[in-house]
Amino acid sequence: MSYKRQFLQTVAALSVGLFLSACQKSTPAPEAAAPAAPAASSPAPAARVLTVGTDPTYAPFEFQNEKGDIVGFDMDVTTAAAKKAGLEVKFVSTPWEGAFNALAQGDRDVLVSAITITDERKQTMDFSEPYFEASQLIAVNESSKVTKLDDLKKSKIGVQTSTTGEEVVVKLLGKTSPNIKRFESTPLALAELAAGGVDAVVADNGVVIHYLANNPTAKFKSVSDASFAPEFYGLAFKKGNTELASQFNKGLADIKADGSYQKIYEQYFKSAAK
Ligand code: ARG
Repeated sequence: MSYKRQFLQTVAALSVGLFLSACQKSTPAPEAAAPAAPAASSPAPAARVLTVGTDPTYAPFEFQNEKGDIVGFDMDVTTAAAKKAGLEVKFVSTPWEGAFNALAQGDRDVLVSAITITDERKQTMDFSEPYFEASQLIAVNESSKVTKLDDLKKSKIGVQTSTTGEEVVVKLLGKTSPNIKRFESTPLALAELAAGGVDAVVADNGVVIHYLANNPTAKFKSVSDASFAPEFYGLAFKKGNTELASQFNKGLADIKADGSYQKIYEQYFKSAAK
């Protein structure tokens, strides 16, 4: 489905390109019209609104409320940090697959999406200082006998494609294992667990815990594993955009120092921030 959408977007982008080039050919702009181009004539913008991409299928970090607004812990942290840095942000729904590409292409100025800072990702993008600590967590049916990751060696496991959850499962089962079921989003993987199509889902702890708390009828439980390493979320920037990264780092440091980070944390996770 995402491929179809990507394909359609590509077709749309191509047709806009063709449309523009057709216009340029058929109606050459008179000399005098040139300075009237919007970019040249509009006054210097006071503060450009930064486009922040997020995959809002990851409650409580990013999700859409009943009105369709993108809300969550990440939005509150990012908005507060941006404000301290004198920056304005708007959040744009950006499917996880393709988000890193959108950043590299300059279609998004920033990504905030419960993104784990990894050495591999650091090669293609820059990160802020960490703003949240997480780890993987296994979701299984309440009746499951699974008590550790190794118990899933012969099981079908659902993951969100290209996440650190997938990495953990790839390590366990091997990259090409047919027992790895990859989904576009974590809620889709969890729905498959409820439907019996997979025996477990591996995803970020905060999301699994939130899902369990909000979907008691699903009758899932969570299982941790000693091998699950601490992960740290960071805001992501286009490689080399160190100016924006340091502005956000300053903003993050400010909201930690003045207690506003703590307030946001408590609002979403109840206990005190570390
Ligand atoms: N922390 C994990 C990772 O970086 C999963 C993030 C998924 N985020 C999302 N909004 N879907 O791979």
